[in-house]
Amino acid sequence: MKILFVSSELTPFAKSGGLGDAVSSLAAALSKLGHDVRVLIPRYSFISKNMLRRVNGLLEIQTAKDKYHAFIYTTTMPNSQVKIYFLDCEALYGRNGIYGYNSAQEFTDNPKRFAMLSRAAFSVCRSLGWIPDIIHANDWPSAPVPVYLTTVEKNTEFSETAGILTIHNLGYQGIYSREHFPELGLGWEYYYGAGFEYYGNINFLKAGIMSAECITTVSPTYAMEIQTPSGGFGLDGLLRQRSRDLVGILNGIDTDLWNPSNDPYLPAHYNVEDLSGKATCKAALQKELGLPVDPEVPLIGMVTRLVEQKGISEVFGRTYGSMRKILDTIHLQVAVLGSGDAWAEEAIMNFSAQYPQFKGVVGYNERLAHLIEAGSDFFLMPSRYEPCGLNQMYSLVYGTLPIVHRTGGLADTVVNYNQDLGEGTGFMFDDLTPQSVYDTVGWAIWAWYNRPKHIVNLRTYAMRQDFSWARSAEEYIRLYEHAISLRKAR
Ligand code: ADP
Ligand code: GLC
Repeated sequence: MKILFVSSELTPFAKSGGLGDAVSSLAAALSKLGHDVRVLIPRYSFISKNMLRRVNGLLEIQTAKDKYHAFIYTTTMPNSQVKIYFLDCEALYGRNGIYGYNSAQEFTDNPKRFAMLSRAAFSVCRSLGWIPDIIHANDWPSAPVPVYLTTVEKNTEFSETAGILTIHNLGYQGIYSREHFPELGLGWEYYYGAGFEYYGNINFLKAGIMSAECITTVSPTYAMEIQTPSGGFGLDGLLRQRSRDLVGILNGIDTDLWNPSNDPYLPAHYNVEDLSGKATCKAALQKELGLPVDPEVPLIGMVTRLVEQKGISEVFGRTYGSMRKILDTIHLQVAVLGSGDAWAEEAIMNFSAQYPQFKGVVGYNERLAHLIEAGSDFFLMPSRYEPCGLNQMYSLVYGTLPIVHRTGGLADTVVNYNQDLGEGTGFMFDDLTPQSVYDTVGWAIWAWYNRPKHIVNLRTYAMRQDFSWARSAEEYIRLYEHAISLRKAR
């Protein structure tokens, strides 16, 4: 099968969170199954041209309102056959940021930047003489792709190309003033007709959901949650309407990048038979962050975007959050890596200054993220909602027991501790409140000191889990086949 992914993020070239990891590891897994998989992403300024090769010819991307010229650069994905195309258009992507220079403020021309990316997918394929069977869009930035497929590209050489849209996070929909609609290059009849209209504005994701042959999201539980008013971010009605073509497929992880037995970022390696290297990682983490080096004290790690989705108010909120009480009453250490909302970054710096057993690093640091996963005993991920979540899966295979809210992909990947049997892979609570975070951290630490054999068992179960893409990649292939038959029937 010929499959084109269109995405705003792709690890290791451009990543702000799990989207980049998920797209690149799925693409690699499909390619391993023997399919011709290619990915289109923008060439942001921080992606150096030096490593890339230019594909001949200047490309013209035209919408009703604008005309842009772009070059295409290419390379193959590390350790894989996947071909990557970089859309090189200085005016749109020649900046050192994916969505903005920081998370607080997005670029004002984002609707145009991502409409153009979506529109360019077709020009790129044409210029290569390569017409895919599937175009797989990811989140709102490429959600217009399936809309083009069912409108202006309906009777072109793409007439048999099926559109798939994966929702990695329904909390981000690409909602903009309707003044931006002409930037999509579609006639006004499609404002309502293709479902862009959203309370008088335009909504990229909504239109994509209406148009795609099939819609996927990244875990089975999240697929159910988004069809309810509490998880639907205003689109639950539409998602219920499309429920026949909506499926939740659990993300896998890239076991080449996230594997404690050969992770190049770690000072020592380990596996489920021999955990001595994990102790070395813990000592290295404690030393690096300036925490007392002590193998006996339980260490809780966090690596996260500091945004409300991740439950940060319940943990770090000034009067509301549970962290102060945790540090005042429970004997443990905490290591946090994150960036995002300014108040939370400040809270983390304050806790670091006030408590010798708490160390936070504000920023984005791939190496430290790996070291925290390996060197911690527990991993706190109290997300308000979590479409899939990759960090809890990384934690599990690193023998670092997750403490999580039972929601979305967290519910699908973590098995709650059974205190009587000493089984499970982590610690869960049902409702997100500061008290439940406090109680569940307390429960995990109680088990650490009082049920050490259980902790060993839980680690063993956790590390034996298989989160590789093998199963989910096959599921995507079956879905693609179904989507192609739907497209032909249209
Ligand atoms: P989300 O995509 O919602 O942020 P995921 O758990 O799916 O959540 O993926 C988060 C990814 O981003 C993980 O690979 C995690 O290690 C990484 N990450 C998040 N924040 C940081 C950071 N400050 N430094 C390094 N990596 C980070
Ligand atoms: C989003 C979600 C996260 C998911 C990731 C990859 O960023 O917030 O839960 O793991 O996409 O699909």
